[in-house]
Amino acid sequence: MIKNLFRISSTPGKTLLWLLLKKDLTGVKGDLGVDLAGGSMLNKCFFKTKRYVSVDINQIKLSEGMEVYPDAIAVNETIQNYLSGTTEKPNLLVCVQTFGTNMFFEHQETVEVIKNMSKTLSFDGSMTFNVGSFGDVDLVELKNKLSPFLKAQFQNVNFRFYGAMHKRVKLPRWKFTEDGIIRVENKTLNKIGVLKKAKHLVRSIFILGLAYTMYLLPPLRTAFGKKKLYLYCFCSGKLKEK
Ligand SMILES: C[S@@+](CC[C@H](N)C(=O)[O-])C[C@H]1O[C@@H](n2cnc3c(N)ncnc32)[C@H](O)[C@@H]1O
Repeated sequence: MIKNLFRISSTPGKTLLWLLLKKDLTGVKGDLGVDLAGGSMLNKCFFKTKRYVSVDINQIKLSEGMEVYPDAIAVNETIQNYLSGTTEKPNLLVCVQTFGTNMFFEHQETVEVIKNMSKTLSFDGSMTFNVGSFGDVDLVELKNKLSPFLKAQFQNVNFRFYGAMHKRVKLPRWKFTEDGIIRVENKTLNKIGVLKKAKHLVRSIFILGLAYTMYLLPPLRTAFGKKKLYLYCFCSGKLKEK
């Protein structure tokens, strides 16, 4: 039941991101919403646009998403190629858990991709993204660099910092091969018994509670995760190109 109402991840930091996304995307209507690096479409539940497109380089994830959401559109393409090639003007662009986070993304292209997202949007459109501190990127510096550009492009620009709140380094779940991206087998994920499921549920409720507390009390968002920071940004009211 909670799964239908909230997206809950293994860390409070990531779960806070889903709470922010849910709040910000609720008011964004329109025809087309594009989830850049949208993977298996786990964020589709936050989109209120008529059409939903997930663009990703991982075909397995896209196919898994299509099984759950047959009304979605899957595009097996890089974000960069999609943005430079599309003739559509989306009302909403989202890119989360990819910049400064995902092992397959070309992190040196983050600023350029964010600028291209803004250029691709329709008039009055909205966009949101987050950036992790992969490769020791200085997120305060990045915010200062992006801020003047975004403020010239949108009516409202809202940045927030939050802590990752985990130290664990996750083992890669995907790898590149000659046949494209394939899943790395993880034995512990194969069999989940009743006891483990119950433990998982209790843990999920605890994580959601912690994330919600951080959502309501902004100073707590960075209090525990100073070492590994994330930057979240929501921009709305795209202005006319000058
Ligand atoms: C951690 S997942 C996040 C998926 C989704 N945004 C979400 O929040 O559930 C990162 C995704 O980025 C995709 N990815 C990485 N670099 C990409 C690129 N240059 N173009 C398109 N997809 C990319 C990966 O295949 C992966 O599905």
